Amino acid sequence: MVEIAPSILSADFARLGDEVRAAEQGGARRIHVDVMDGHFVPNLSMGPAIVRSLRAVTTLPLEVHLMVEDPALFIDPFLQAGADLIIVHHEVLPDPRPLLLQLHAAGKKAGLAIRPDTPVEVFEPLLPNLDLALCMTVYPGYSGQAFLPDSLGRIARLRQLIERMQPACDLEVDGGIDRTTTPLVVKAGANVLVAATAIFKAPEGPTGAVQALLALAKPA
Ligand code: DX5
Ligand code: ZN
Repeated sequence: MVEIAPSILSADFARLGDEVRAAEQGGARRIHVDVMDGHFVPNLSMGPAIVRSLRAVTTLPLEVHLMVEDPALFIDPFLQAGADLIIVHHEVLPDPRPLLLQLHAAGKKAGLAIRPDTPVEVFEPLLPNLDLALCMTVYPGYSGQAFLPDSLGRIARLRQLIERMQPACDLEVDGGIDRTTTPLVVKAGANVLVAATAIFKAPEGPTGAVQALLALAKPA
């Protein structure tokens, strides 16, 4: 069963509660929160206050994608704000295990992300500690970028690793996911699809956009 994870990065922040409810009505079963610190990526986005506000308006699981240089600083603030799953980047953590264990000890889920220039094989020793492996399909930093076509082979290789080592681990993709790329990434092996522009900038609104992506994600 494929899930769509709407990223609020492209939502109208003045109407965030309505935007999230509209996505939920379309069938979204989690919300993706992109956190950027201006160092790991050349952009700034949002902090724990947004997660705290979202927690008050939705019961959906909130997943926080930490695109920051020092993720250890932010685990506790985001957990206290109500995050259910925190995704950290491999590129800033030579050994992410202490943070992954910290999340599990708090009863929360742990995810690890890689940029497009990091080999998917880095996941291999870490999969037993992961609930979610995120294969970025654009360079992180901005929504609205084009999907990198080399990602399809990376997703397929990661799916093989997951099947071999930790089949319960979700394989998430993030960046350039729209109506064209959705069937391609699902065929390659992704089962959680993050989308910002394709949902919150869609002319028909988030409800119809999530419904359309879910329909395209169904196996033919
Ligand atoms: C990229 C973020 C993504 C982004 C996706 O740095 O991690 O979650 O918001 O945006 P779209 O779906 O527009 O490519
Ligand atoms: Zn993201």
